[in-house]
Amino acid sequence: MTEKIVEAAQRLRGRRIVITGAASGIGRCTAELFAAHGAKVALLDRDESALAGVRDAIPGAVARSADVTNEASVVSAVQELAAAMGGIDGVVSAAGVMLRGSIADTSVDEFRRVVEINLTGPYIVVRACLPWLVQAPEATIVNLGSGQSLLPNSPDRTAYSASKGGVLNLTRAMAAELAPRIRANTVCPGLVDTPMALGVQGNVGNYALRRLAKPIEIAEAILFLTAFESSFVTGAALAVDGGRSFH
Ligand SMILES: NC(=O)c1ccc[n+]([C@@H]2O[C@H](COP(=O)([O-])OP(=O)(O)OC[C@H]3O[C@@H](n4cnc5c(N)ncnc54)[C@H](O)[C@@H]3O)[C@@H](O)[C@H]2O)c1
Repeated sequence: MTEKIVEAAQRLRGRRIVITGAASGIGRCTAELFAAHGAKVALLDRDESALAGVRDAIPGAVARSADVTNEASVVSAVQELAAAMGGIDGVVSAAGVMLRGSIADTSVDEFRRVVEINLTGPYIVVRACLPWLVQAPEATIVNLGSGQSLLPNSPDRTAYSASKGGVLNLTRAMAAELAPRIRANTVCPGLVDTPMALGVQGNVGNYALRRLAKPIEIAEAILFLTAFESSFVTGAALAVDGGRSFH
């Protein structure tokens, strides 16, 4: 496990959850935490070898490599994962990429690629999971936004900010359309100590808590929004950002 998980309560006992971006960072930590809470986890990532390592470290986990931008590949992966688990009760979309660059510095192709992975990706994944989610008694969707979903005031992250703003409204649209059967919420982390944040760890002056988050601190918020404890929460954006969005 990448984090020490002390919580022993089985808040997700028997729930079958697809987690994208599960080979690294927040997705990986979420998979470990969910499994510790009794969930069956189905891991999806484009990094096949890292994914196999995570799958082997989580007892009972199933995994399939796929690129979230490739609809045919996601549909076939989800079919296989759903068959292996006997259904799908929830989705966590944590696959994503960061790109720094101003409007002038970001080519249109780079902009399209970031939006394709960060915004179209969660759409493709949820769409592929929908046939099983609509059959689940209390299905949940959690999409990973960012501080940039709420306050896109970091210069030079144009494509990333656009994609993460889109995730917030995509998730609200899912919450409105799929209610009352399925809940959908966005988690908006500040800087998190994962490979994605390499090189920007020093930029914590704007955070009230003056530090980066640990992946487990984001995973716990995703757990809350997936578990029964949040049963009246849908269409929400939960800032888990050490005070960045108000500070
Ligand atoms: N780390 C941060 O500071 C931070 C802050 C705010 C939001 N987030 C968001 O949290 C999510 C997880 O980020 P992380 O920090 O764990 O990053 P990470 O780089 O550690 O992990 C991202 C994972 O997504 C996978 N991935 C990327 N593109 C993919 C694709 N096209 N298809 C399938 N898998 C793909 C990668 O292989 C990797 O395993 C992302 O959506 C990110 O934007 C991260």
